[in-house]
Amino acid sequence: MIQMRHITKVYEKGIQALNDINVEIGRGEMVFITGPSGAGKTTFLKLIYAETKPTSGLLFVGGKNVSSLASRDVPYLRRRIGVVYQDFKLLYQKTVFENIAFALRVISLPSAEIYKRTIKVLNIVELTHKKDAFPHQLSGGEQQRVAIARAIVNDPVLILADEPTGNLDAGMAANIMNFFMETNHQGTTVIVATHNKEKALKMGTHVIHVDSGQIVG
Ligand SMILES: Nc1ncnc2c1ncn2[C@@H]1O[C@H](COP(=O)(O)OP(=O)(O)O)[C@@H](O)[C@H]1O
Ligand SMILES: [Mg+2]
Repeated sequence: MIQMRHITKVYEKGIQALNDINVEIGRGEMVFITGPSGAGKTTFLKLIYAETKPTSGLLFVGGKNVSSLASRDVPYLRRRIGVVYQDFKLLYQKTVFENIAFALRVISLPSAEIYKRTIKVLNIVELTHKKDAFPHQLSGGEQQRVAIARAIVNDPVLILADEPTGNLDAGMAANIMNFFMETNHQGTTVIVATHNKEKALKMGTHVIHVDSGQIVG
């Protein structure tokens, strides 16, 4: 599903976020990217959904060369990827329901289908009762759950989740991780970035540990 060959990312002012990363993530894998704050986890995910381009190296996602993807092809790539952003990126003028349904409206589904699918994911994150609220009326944890619901509503083949349980209490965090595991068992590739190495190791799946932009085991 994902191949990184000698991927290096240097931001402006010479800040090196990733340094010569070589990674292979297979279709249907569940992978944790762990590492301390500033290690390069978010950059790793941003490269995969083409939010930013590698400075050098080759990156393939689903067989597509993302390192040289034209901007007009980025929306097509993203259509098959569900991203839970570290900072949520909710639309603050829209209700919870509309934040989630939006992803389905752009692919022109019939409204009955949009309603059905949106309610289904609201149920998964236990937020049906907040469907008409606006993001600023929600707690950080609730906003994070909206971000998760939006990422999964499209049935993506690849889920990229950046610290998706960072604002959740232990019970809800476990529910969300279980949901990702179940989705993964149904064939979806799931990549979760977390600074919690112990938790990742406990899940017993593929763990990639990064520190200062390099893979350290
Ligand atoms: N847009 C940016 N411009 C400049 N430096 C950045 C940018 N984004 C991240 N960085 C730097 O790159 C490094 C890795 O950041 P990041 O990928 O966000 O790490 P993590 O998600 O593991 O905390 C850090 O030193 C960070 O300050
Ligand atoms: Mg991060």
